[in-house]
Amino acid sequence: MLIIREAHQDELNEIKKVVAAAFEREDEANLVQAIYDSPYFEAKLSLVAELNGQIVGHILFSRILIHTKEGDRTTLALAPVSVLPAFQNQAIGAELITEGLKKCAELGFGHVVVLGHPNYYPRFGFVPASTKNIKAPFDVPDEAFMVCELVPDALADIEGMVLYPAAFLDV
Ligand SMILES: CC(C)(COP(=O)(O)OP(=O)(O)OC[C@H]1O[C@@H](n2cnc3c(N)ncnc32)[C@H](O)[C@@H]1OP(=O)(O)O)[C@@H](O)C(=O)NCCC(=O)NCCS
Repeated sequence: MLIIREAHQDELNEIKKVVAAAFEREDEANLVQAIYDSPYFEAKLSLVAELNGQIVGHILFSRILIHTKEGDRTTLALAPVSVLPAFQNQAIGAELITEGLKKCAELGFGHVVVLGHPNYYPRFGFVPASTKNIKAPFDVPDEAFMVCELVPDALADIEGMVLYPAAFLDV
């Protein structure tokens, strides 16, 4: 049975192994470590997918800012989401994202930003950030930089540019 639950503090190394295996390199696992070590880390938003006692997937949301003329506003970055190669395409990623977004809303966050595949994230409610007047701080294809409103019109009065902590820019 698949369980989506909060990661325990002592599971970071296991999580990093899952992330490195999913991406077939270390960069995203290093990003997870950097976020864990940063003030942007939100322990309740590091979730694992556990199947028969084994961690087979992980998702992390962390606090970032949208810089607006009226001041900085807090939002969340979804990054990274990882499923072990042997378990991909079995909707585990979808469960992690759906449950994760629910948790973000429960914690009172209004929106989430993701840089990711434009064919995958729209099914969870993500739309191009440009349609909500939110810009990326770097050059990316318009449709790959997306936002999800957890509450209807949560971004209606926000216009600005997302600011990523330095750790994100190394990936
Ligand atoms: C992306 C990922 C988390 C999806 O998890 P999953 O459990 O395999 O996905 P699901 O079973 O929920 O959904 C499968 C869908 O994801 C798509 N998908 C799988 N890997 C993908 C990838 N790297 N980028 C975009 N889409 C991907 C599949 O094509 C499939 O699409 P379809 O439903 O239109 O056929 C997982 O494949 C993974 O860890 N990939 C490597 C790491 C990665 O690329 N992370 C995301 C960065 S944006």
